[in-house]
Amino acid sequence: MKKNHRIVVLPGDGIGPEIVDAALDVLEAVQELSGGFSLTYEYHPAGAGCYRDTGAAISAQALAAFRTADATLKGPVGLPDVRKPDGTEAGLLGGILRVGFDLYANVRPIRLYPNAATPLAGRAPDDIDYVIVRENTEGLYLSRGVGLVTAQAATDSLLMTARGCERIARFAFKTALEKKRGAPEDGRRRVTLVDKSNVLRSFAFFRRIFLEVAGDYPEVAAECLYVDAAAAALVGRPHHFQVIVTENLFGDILSDLGGATIGGLGMCPSANIGDRIAYFEPIHGSAPDIAGRSLANPVSQILSAAMMLSHLGEAAAAEMITSALWQVYARGRLPFQPGGAVTGGAPVVAKAARQALREL
Ligand code: IPM
Ligand code: MN
Repeated sequence: MKKNHRIVVLPGDGIGPEIVDAALDVLEAVQELSGGFSLTYEYHPAGAGCYRDTGAAISAQALAAFRTADATLKGPVGLPDVRKPDGTEAGLLGGILRVGFDLYANVRPIRLYPNAATPLAGRAPDDIDYVIVRENTEGLYLSRGVGLVTAQAATDSLLMTARGCERIARFAFKTALEKKRGAPEDGRRRVTLVDKSNVLRSFAFFRRIFLEVAGDYPEVAAECLYVDAAAAALVGRPHHFQVIVTENLFGDILSDLGGATIGGLGMCPSANIGDRIAYFEPIHGSAPDIAGRSLANPVSQILSAAMMLSHLGEAAAAEMITSALWQVYARGRLPFQPGGAVTGGAPVVAKAARQALREL
């Protein structure tokens, strides 16, 4: 019997609905071709538009659906002019979904596709192919919205718990074992802890736990790198890395840096994974400036959908999507504009991906 997966869809703000539509279009094609499973969807508004209209970034019904779904596909959220009374952006959802549901692993693959507009000279496709495992529930983001502010000073605190460090380290080593390829440089399975343990005791604490956990994974090389050196290495020798594990804020920054090396954030999907619940989303924002103008590239959202399939146990279907997109890029026929926008926008890319799926 066909397996059915129940998916919650949060289309989000700005370009969200356009790129989510493109991802759903590709998911439909892959269901037809693979035949082994089906997806049913439940849509809910969420994000800045929802906050503006209802006073809440996400409704109680949507949260209930999120909690019980097999997975959630989320578009980018946020609108520059929708703000909370304290001046911070409204509708961002990270605190509610990532922390609220203890989705501690933020998985961010960085892979260079053929013809993608990398600013790095001399990098062949697949020469950059690593995963950033960003700790998603503590670190400096502990203080999200609750830092202490007086007229003279402001402070945010960074939290590292033993449990938080251990589980994210373990997750990174498992990711290194599950990933098909080792590091492009030498084929080795390698987890790199990125920290600032030369300066901060919290990071020395993380490093000690990371190295203890590493002892349980003798088949994976473990190494540590300070975050400033890591930023340079991701530009200078990105082929060295297979899996990077790091604190929440460092992971936020380094994943955008990594994204820039593979042609921009539009190439970057992600997963937010807990022990039972998971959701999948691009790492970029909602680009309201290009929303509704048929310019958005939906690759990040389509690859997020592929990560979702893989999480649901549909690895073959997930692989079909990534292979199809690889082919689309390899043929170099997408009408890219300087800066990464696509003439015709998300439907054009979805159509090319569907065509490539049929030709696999
Ligand atoms: C991301 C985003 C979020 C983050 C923002 C929108 C709060 O930048 O998912 O990387 O900082 O985590
Ligand atoms: Mn970010």
